[in-house]
Amino acid sequence: MGNACSFVVRKRSEDESKYIISKEKSLNSNSVLGATTTIPSRIVGEREFHNDPKSVYVLAKDDIEKNRLNEQHFWVQREFWLEDIFPKNSYPESCHFAIGNVLQENPFGKRFDFIQMRYFAAALRANEWDEAYTSLYNQLKPGGYLQVLDTNVVKCTTDPELQDINHAFSQLLKSKGQDSDIGPKMATKMEAAGFNAIYNNQIEVPMGWGSKRSVRYAENMRSLYISIAPSLAEQLHIEVDVCKAKINRACDAMGPTKATVCLWSYLGQKPLDAPKSSSSL
Ligand SMILES: C[S@@+](CC[C@H](N)C(=O)[O-])C[C@H]1O[C@@H](n2cnc3c(N)ncnc32)[C@H](O)[C@@H]1O
Repeated sequence: MGNACSFVVRKRSEDESKYIISKEKSLNSNSVLGATTTIPSRIVGEREFHNDPKSVYVLAKDDIEKNRLNEQHFWVQREFWLEDIFPKNSYPESCHFAIGNVLQENPFGKRFDFIQMRYFAAALRANEWDEAYTSLYNQLKPGGYLQVLDTNVVKCTTDPELQDINHAFSQLLKSKGQDSDIGPKMATKMEAAGFNAIYNNQIEVPMGWGSKRSVRYAENMRSLYISIAPSLAEQLHIEVDVCKAKINRACDAMGPTKATVCLWSYLGQKPLDAPKSSSSL
């Protein structure tokens, strides 16, 4: 899958060219991810979505969504210990991006020291999580780290309109075979894949309470909900415009009703003495 950000790829050397994707060349044209290059996007309510029948990913993939994710990236990292890991304004020259499907064979032909998996809560089917963690385990070198940062699609709230949106979002994910409550289960699943969990944290983040950060979080959620308003409206059996108005009221009420969202962060390590993977990567 991957959005257009994933195509910001530069060729570093002849040797690396097989790892590098452009809009014309995908690593694996059969993959959920590579399909972005061959299947035209689906447009719903002026927003752009993936159109891969194998994928259950329901969020948008256009520039507005990329900006929303970038914004979330910028300040959510600061909630944890991650700030120093990520470059602030630019990536080092040696860095390049490529698309891969976490559920398919590693196309890079090598193992990694560090993998981050962030915001996948609405990306995989319930029965794909174990497979995904096993795949990432196999793609790490012994002693390598998997860092996971994720959030709950269901917000903690007493507001009936936000509860309706929670319900609609959960039903939408359920209709795709997803688990809308995957966050608290991630650590157990990582350990089942073989990781030693060396950091496991959960925080509850206020939304719209008044601080700059909480207000930005509420606005970020508004942008997400509005992007999938047609799907939420279908679940709620209401018109899209009525749904958008409901979303706006629910987001305006986040502060006064003290809504929060859970963020989970895990750091798992592949044991140094891990046996060689039976997988071919
Ligand atoms: C909510 S976005 C998060 C994007 C990015 N990780 C971030 O933190 O900003 C979820 C991403 O997962 C990607 N995705 C969905 N299914 C995937 C799969 N099977 N393998 C790899 N990526 C996938 C989507 O294309 C989307 O870019």
